[in-house]
Amino acid sequence: PRLDEMYNSFDFESVAKTVLKPVAWAYYSSGSDDEVSMRENHNAFHRIWLRPRVLVNVKELDVSTTMLGAPVSMPLYISATALGKLGHPDGELVLTRAAGQQKIIQMIPTLGSCSFDEMVNTALPAQTQWLQLYANSNRSISENLVRHAEKRGLKGLFVTVDAAQMGHREKDMRAKYSMEGPANVDEQLGVNQDEGTSKYVSSFIDPSLNWDDLTWLHGLTKMPIVLKGIQTPEDAVLAARHGCAGIVVSNHGGRQLDFSPSPIELLPGIMDALRVEGLDKDFEVYIDGGIRRGSDIFKAIALGAKGVGIGRPALYAMVTYGDSGVKKLLQLLHDELVMCMRLMGAPTIGHITSRMVDIRNLKDH
Ligand code: FNR
Repeated sequence: PRLDEMYNSFDFESVAKTVLKPVAWAYYSSGSDDEVSMRENHNAFHRIWLRPRVLVNVKELDVSTTMLGAPVSMPLYISATALGKLGHPDGELVLTRAAGQQKIIQMIPTLGSCSFDEMVNTALPAQTQWLQLYANSNRSISENLVRHAEKRGLKGLFVTVDAAQMGHREKDMRAKYSMEGPANVDEQLGVNQDEGTSKYVSSFIDPSLNWDDLTWLHGLTKMPIVLKGIQTPEDAVLAARHGCAGIVVSNHGGRQLDFSPSPIELLPGIMDALRVEGLDKDFEVYIDGGIRRGSDIFKAIALGAKGVGIGRPALYAMVTYGDSGVKKLLQLLHDELVMCMRLMGAPTIGHITSRMVDIRNLKDH
C-alpha cells in the first residue's frame, strides 16, 4: 500500500508485519510470556469514556506543551527502542530526523544500533533529546555515557528500572538473533547471541541497581532524572522523595513483567498518591504503552500525565516508509489529538481536565 493509504497507527503495523524480516518482526512485536500486559496496554483505553463539553469556542486549537521545560509541538515523545537497524538501514536516525521535523522529543536508547553521537549530530540545533539509561554492571561505562550526554546537551536522563532481568519474549527467542555488531551493544558488552535478541543485548544490565543508587546518579549529572518503568503508587512516591524530576509509568510495552497492569489504568491511583503526599508539584508523570490514537493521548493528559511515549508505532512506521512514514504517523496522531480536543471542547492542553473522562470501568490499583 502507498503511504497515503495509511489512516492510523495500526495500518503501519499491518504493513510492517508483511515486510519485516522474521527476526526483526519477532524482536519488535514481541511481549513477554503470554503477552497479556502487551495486549491490555491499549485495550484498557477502551474502558475510558469521554465527557465532551459543547459550545466552547474551539476555532483556535493549540496542542503544544512543554516536557521537562522544553517546548514541544504536542504531548508525545518517541520512547527508547533498541536495535533500529534490525528494521531499517538508517536505524534510529530515522526517528531522530522525524522527531526534529515534528518538534517532538526523542529518547535516545542505550542500545541504539546507531552510535550515541550519530543520533545527537543528526538532531537539529534546537532539537531536544533525552537519554535512556540501562545501568551497566560496569558502572564506569554508565558514568561515561551520562557525563557525555550532559556535555552533548541532552535534557533528561531516563533510567529504566523495570528490567533487572529481561522478560521472556518467546517469539523473539524462537527467532534467534543474527546481526553483526550493533554499535552500542558491543560497547555495552553483549556476549551471547544464541538466545534471542533481547537476551543478547541485555546481558550487561545491573540487577543490583536500587534506591540508594539514586545518590550515585544525582552525583553524575545535573540533568533531571526520570525513572522509566514505575508501576505502583508506592514507587511513584519513592521516586519523588529521591529527588527525581518525574516518572514514566510503564510496563515496557508489555515486554517485561507480564500481568503488570496497563499504565493508563495505573495512572489515576499514582496521581492520587502523589497528591495526597504533596509531591505532585514540579513532578512530571509520563506514561507509555499502547498509545495508538489521539484519544489515548487525550485520556492520559486528562488523568494527569504531562505527556506520553510511543515505542512500536514509531518502529513500524520507520520500517515501512522510513522518514516519511514516521513523519506521517506523527501527523496522524497530531491530527487525531486536535480532532479529539475540538470535539471535547478543550482548545488547549491546559483545558483538559479529569472531569472530561469517565473512569468508572477502570480498576482501582
Ligand atoms: C523497547 N523499549 C525499551 N525501553 C527501554 O527503556 N530501553 C530499551 O532499550 C527498549 N527497547 C525496546 C525495544 C523494542 C523493540 C520495543 C518495542 C520497546 C520499551 C519502550 O521504550 C516503551 O516503553 C514501549 O515500547 C511502549 O509501548 P508501545 O508504545 O510499544 O506499546
